[in-house]
Amino acid sequence: MTLSAVRLTLIKRAVFVSALSPLIIYLWRAVGDALGANPIEALIRGSGDWTLYFLTLTMSITPLRRFTGQNWLQALRRMLGLFTFLYACLHLTTFVWFDHFFDLDEILRDVWKRPFIAIGFTAFLLLIPLAITSTHAMQRRLGRYWSQLHRVVYAVALLAMTHFWWMRAGKQNFAEPIVIGVIITILLAARLIGPIQRWIQARKDLVLARDVESR
Ligand code: HEM
Repeated sequence: MTLSAVRLTLIKRAVFVSALSPLIIYLWRAVGDALGANPIEALIRGSGDWTLYFLTLTMSITPLRRFTGQNWLQALRRMLGLFTFLYACLHLTTFVWFDHFFDLDEILRDVWKRPFIAIGFTAFLLLIPLAITSTHAMQRRLGRYWSQLHRVVYAVALLAMTHFWWMRAGKQNFAEPIVIGVIITILLAARLIGPIQRWIQARKDLVLARDVESR
């Protein structure tokens, strides 16, 4: 289904404002001293949660578009991906700046004590090339390599899941990691269905061709 340009612009604006609203709410609460007893923890956890939500939303666009036939959905993917990166930057900034005041020794000690942080950092590093190459110009310049590069998002999702799971394991709190884990597994499986179907078809064609040849 195609959507008029005006409607698509309105949808994009609504998504933009909605995606920005968690950040505005956190800023509002920070200014009003309403982040609770441990504001830094609230900021790290909140920004981590939103990074994961936007990552999941970004990954769900293509399967949703294929499933519903609503091609206009694809126009939202870049924006959602960039919001993933924005919240990841806030998450990292809160950790490095507000929690550790850029003290490298302190940061390394914390990473040694809680290795799940290193996994989160690896996921963040992998997001950087995706954000840099997200423009239409980069997409054109990279051609078919662009989609190969952007498959890295699935590795980011696995690392982010491990990071979240490991962090919550320390607290014996698995409810949310299980929900997000199921969603991400479904999205990964949806990504694999196409290639598997093509592989099965190619095998069938090969068997058929050999059959015809041997007659
Ligand atoms: C794609 C990248 C990342 C994602 C999706 C992500 C996601 C998350 C999530 C969902 C949580 C748990 C929040 C909760 O309990 O509700 C979390 C916690 C945490 N993350 Fe990340 N994270 C990422 C990268 C990073 C990076 C780069 C760092 C720092 C170098 C980091 C440091 C932490 C820390 C320290 C916590 C635990 C906070 C606490 O104990 O209160 N994460 N992250």
